[in-house]
Amino acid sequence: MRYLFLFLMFAFWFASCTSNADSSTVLVNADFKPLEVDLEDLLNAGKFPPDTLITISYDHFFKRKKRFKAYSLAAILKPLVKNIKDTSNLRITFTCTDGYAPNMSLSKVLNNDGYIAVQDLDQSAAGKDWADSLAAKFRPFYLVWQGTGKTDDTFAWPFGLAEIRIASFIEDFADAYPMHNKAAQKGFNLFQLHCMKCHSINKVGGVMGPEFNYPKSITEYWQKEDIWNFLRNPQSYRYSAKMPAIGNLSSEEFEEIYGYLKSMKGVKPGM
Ligand code: HEC
Repeated sequence: MRYLFLFLMFAFWFASCTSNADSSTVLVNADFKPLEVDLEDLLNAGKFPPDTLITISYDHFFKRKKRFKAYSLAAILKPLVKNIKDTSNLRITFTCTDGYAPNMSLSKVLNNDGYIAVQDLDQSAAGKDWADSLAAKFRPFYLVWQGTGKTDDTFAWPFGLAEIRIASFIEDFADAYPMHNKAAQKGFNLFQLHCMKCHSINKVGGVMGPEFNYPKSITEYWQKEDIWNFLRNPQSYRYSAKMPAIGNLSSEEFEEIYGYLKSMKGVKPGM
């Protein structure tokens, strides 16, 4: 009897050890809980790597070569994601103070040289982080990339970057994804790349510009031609429009985006 008891104790101990190990080290996407991190909190907690001085050969905001004081983004992220076995289906969203919220594949971010910049080293004002005209919009952080092409728009360059969120694609994008409409999936990818950082579909996406699908699809109250013309020259519709002109979209790509927007008509969040 005593041996049986000991045996049972051992069996329970063994079982609980192995199941613990499972839940902490074998995090697969399905049970990955979204991770949200306030970057200033992380910095204040001493969890940033040492800062470095970097040169960016072509900065996508300043449109020229720039030097910054910055922190390696991969070095910030690696400890946060070290227990995740498979990062392939995870997205990282960069949430900014003005509602801009671009997202990228986490693997791509980990495999490239992103930096969180905190000071512009080219400006004349000594001791300041950013030029006065930029400080309010650039703080707390500005994300830049080393070694990406001048025309590569698959990297996000957000300023006013405050928070990062890491979640599985399904967790964050299911409500905006045309799951059962294969033809619209290319349009979704293009929308995600070009529009979703500012516009949401079923509340998924940035909140800098208006929502396009909930409760009513924009395709029900804006003509296709007007959407196309607006996105290429917003100020030709509203002198005060806050949307920057999108110049790098072909009419074929727009057709795909429009097809996607139409396919989402009537699809509600949670469906
Ligand atoms: C950098 C942010 C940003 C991006 C990227 C962006 N938009 Fe906008 N968009 C806005 C803002 C802000 C407005 C509100 C315009 C205004 O101030 O009148 C807007 C308005 C619009 C409107 C007018 C809608 C309405 O009901 O007033 C359309 C149409 C539009 N955007 C289409 C697009 C499409 C399509 C894309 C992607 C190809 C896109 N936008 C990308 C920020 C953006």
